[in-house]
Amino acid sequence: MTLILGIESSCDETAVALVRDDRTIVAQRIASQDATHRPFGGVVPELAARDHVEGLTPMIAGVLADGGVRLRDVDAIAATAGPGLIGGVMAGLVTAKALAFAAARPLYAVNHLEGHALSPRLVAADLAFPYLLLLVSGGHCQLLAVEGVGRYRRLATTIDDAAGEAFDKVAKLLGLGFPGGPAVERAAAAGDPARFALPRPLVGSDDPNFSFAGLKSAVLRVRDALPAPTGADAADLAAGFQAAVVDCLVDRSRRALARTQATAFVVAGGVAANAAVRAALAEVAGAHGLPFVAPPAWLCTDNAAMIAWAAAERIFAGIAPDGDAPARPRWPLDPTAEPVRGAGVKA
Ligand code: KG4
Ligand code: ZN
Repeated sequence: MTLILGIESSCDETAVALVRDDRTIVAQRIASQDATHRPFGGVVPELAARDHVEGLTPMIAGVLADGGVRLRDVDAIAATAGPGLIGGVMAGLVTAKALAFAAARPLYAVNHLEGHALSPRLVAADLAFPYLLLLVSGGHCQLLAVEGVGRYRRLATTIDDAAGEAFDKVAKLLGLGFPGGPAVERAAAAGDPARFALPRPLVGSDDPNFSFAGLKSAVLRVRDALPAPTGADAADLAAGFQAAVVDCLVDRSRRALARTQATAFVVAGGVAANAAVRAALAEVAGAHGLPFVAPPAWLCTDNAAMIAWAAAERIFAGIAPDGDAPARPRWPLDPTAEPVRGAGVKA
């Protein structure tokens, strides 16, 4: 049995986990930096990196204590090596390299997106390859054919904003608070999704790509046209926005399912924590006669269990450790995928 210590620090969650290759999560801690970033209405990279540096060492000691193990009981170390905010990635990766060196254990430098992509298999032991993955987070919105460990074929991506990024921006412009996704979901629960007509960018287009920038701008225009937006207006706009995002995700996923061989439809990433998104995607899978797999909400948002698990998958697959790997701010899962037309920096 292999015990893996995982570290995640690519954005605004500091997380450490101990995971066994039989899928047991021995211990884990996740510290959100919400309080640090709330005054700024978004993640401040420099502050995020400092919080990771301060938080990681005590958290590693805490997780080892929670699991009742010492560092020498750990068989392998795994850390996110990108993509993400580079200061935070470096804090986690350097810490992991130091631990691996001190304990003479192999280090696995994990692609954060691979962590999300394989996370469903941590909880669904019977989930086999290939599956279609909708990866919807704050930094990414992609449809991927997951053909095996290390074998990801990108079928679609966003040509502008990621879905989670749009949730965060809309929350900010509606004054709903930070972090944005859960705030929009809460406000939407009390709103009328049909009151405002909002666009569904790219719905019906041939390729399964995504676009959310125009939807966000439409929310801004509606808000600015209201004389004095009330809480009820914000709720209706949040509901309308969320319904539009759901329609886009559903239409794009259907299109990708039609052009790929998959044994299951899987969703992962922070936006997959949204109940309306999950319910709609479950229907898409059902209509294609496929099982639907969505990890529990805590495993959808950033965590270290998925990073440790990605290393477990690589060990099963016989992939060698990569202790010399650099920290990478950008690191596509499918390096062969063409940049999409209109794509900005977040391909
Ligand atoms: O995967 P994640 O934790 O970090 C990244 O790798 O980006 O995803 C964070 C994103 C944020 O944009 C956040 O607003 C969004 O996921 N999110 C949600 C919800 N919970 C988190 N979006 C919609 N509804 C939610 N309940
Ligand atoms: Zn993530």
